[in-house]
Amino acid sequence: MTTPEIAPSILAADFLRLQEQVQAAERGGARRFQIDVMDGLFVPNISFGMPLVEAMRRATAGLLEAHLMIVQPDRYLEAFAQAGADLIIVHQEAVTHLDRAIQQIKQLGKRAGVALCPATPLRTLDEVIEDLDMLLVMTVNPGFGGQRFIPYTLRKIARARALLDERNPTCELEIDGGVDLATIGPAYAVGARVFVAGTSVFGHPQGADAAVAALMEAATV
Ligand code: DX5
Repeated sequence: MTTPEIAPSILAADFLRLQEQVQAAERGGARRFQIDVMDGLFVPNISFGMPLVEAMRRATAGLLEAHLMIVQPDRYLEAFAQAGADLIIVHQEAVTHLDRAIQQIKQLGKRAGVALCPATPLRTLDEVIEDLDMLLVMTVNPGFGGQRFIPYTLRKIARARALLDERNPTCELEIDGGVDLATIGPAYAVGARVFVAGTSVFGHPQGADAAVAALMEAATV
């Protein structure tokens, strides 16, 4: 049984207590964090950018994922790499030249991830699937935390697992959106192994440490 990994999404964190919450999540077992970058164009929300990646780099030695929910993310790959991101995720829907963007991320010495919105077919990645370090299957429509997990994405996760097992077994399969104690188990059962969670981590009444530990437990029950 592969240990599930929780990637707390700091979109849901209390920015006045960010380092404290990061440390709590790490006490609970988190070894990576996701930074949700939003531009108000690719998604209808604006969040934060490179300065927050720089701050997170000072707050943790954990793996930092920059999830670029922005148009033409290739304009900022070097900036997010320099800010401290270890893994840069671009949306297939937001990049004109996806192969070039993946190669650029790798030339910067970072791991390359591609995210798909719920309605975007896996086959759009058919030509580049072997080049990915991570495939992110969105389980909500990107732009906001606190949304409900979209049930049909479970079938897509299962197909993504089969695709990676056949074409790129070392590629991480991550999901993002509406991950909580009820949804993490079914998603793990169909092959997801990395789970972005914001509300269920930083909104937990007992704190981020209890939340991360409970999610890791619930994944494989
Ligand atoms: C959507 C965001 C959210 C966030 C996690 O664009 O990417 O999915 O990271 O949000 P929760 O865990 O609150 O659904």
